[in-house]
Amino acid sequence: MNAMDIEELKRRAATVEDIRGWNFSRMKMWSEPAPWTYQEIVRRYLRPTDRVLDIATGGGEVFLSLVPFMGSGLGTDFGPQMIATARENTPADLAEKVSWAVMNAQNLKVEPGDFDLVLNRHGPVFLDPALRALRPGGYFICQQVGGLNSRNIIRLFGWDSGGDYWRDYWDRHGFAHQDLVSLQTQLTEAGCRIVAQGSYNIRTTFLDVESLIFFLKAVPLPEDFDIERHGERMLRFIEENSAPEGIETNEHREILIAQKG
Ligand SMILES: C[S@@+](CC[C@H](N)C(=O)[O-])C[C@H]1O[C@@H](n2cnc3c(N)ncnc32)[C@H](O)[C@@H]1O
Repeated sequence: MNAMDIEELKRRAATVEDIRGWNFSRMKMWSEPAPWTYQEIVRRYLRPTDRVLDIATGGGEVFLSLVPFMGSGLGTDFGPQMIATARENTPADLAEKVSWAVMNAQNLKVEPGDFDLVLNRHGPVFLDPALRALRPGGYFICQQVGGLNSRNIIRLFGWDSGGDYWRDYWDRHGFAHQDLVSLQTQLTEAGCRIVAQGSYNIRTTFLDVESLIFFLKAVPLPEDFDIERHGERMLRFIEENSAPEGIETNEHREILIAQKG
């Protein structure tokens, strides 16, 4: 990647739009192959008659790709703008099968035991309400961004890893820990059977500076990204992490599948 100065970085940053819903499709990335995709895994557990709850659905982008394979779905998020975007994103042929509601994951207003499958992809996990929504024998599938994700980026903000940052955040807010190991313990204590769990940590590369800036503006970081405050640091980061193909980081994902007893 060619060297650039701070003015050019700012000029390019000004061309980068904010994320809409939870849609990362404008990013140009190369990644080493991942051993699974979340959608493939969920589809193995989905039956065509299942009623499915998606917690913290964002703009429903990923959930909508699964709706054709289920009986009916409810996508929830605490952000009204997210749910408005999910409604806009719903194609006419799926409108009968999926509904959307603004709901806090801490207090889901659904009938107990109403769902065959409860999903949470990259959202905050509050197990009591999630398990209450699930029928006995139903599956809970949760994928989280792992604690080692984008580690070189997290280090720019003074933390050794996102895992360290989030543990501190959960402790400060009195939330149960939401890493894979902690969730397994909590699920087992709640009487669930752990069906499977796994993780991967692969190399991934931003193919242009705009994709990196889009990512920094979109994802939760220890500090909100601000080009005026973080620009010089970003320039050094780009120089230090440039490879022939682009700017390197890593993608760490954890998945957990549990069955309610
Ligand atoms: C990282 S996004 C994931 C969106 C989607 N599940 C996906 O995988 O693309 C996290 C979502 O969690 C939502 N969220 C954060 N806290 C929440 C809460 N307490 N209750 C419900 N949704 C919440 C945010 O509004 C955001 O849409």
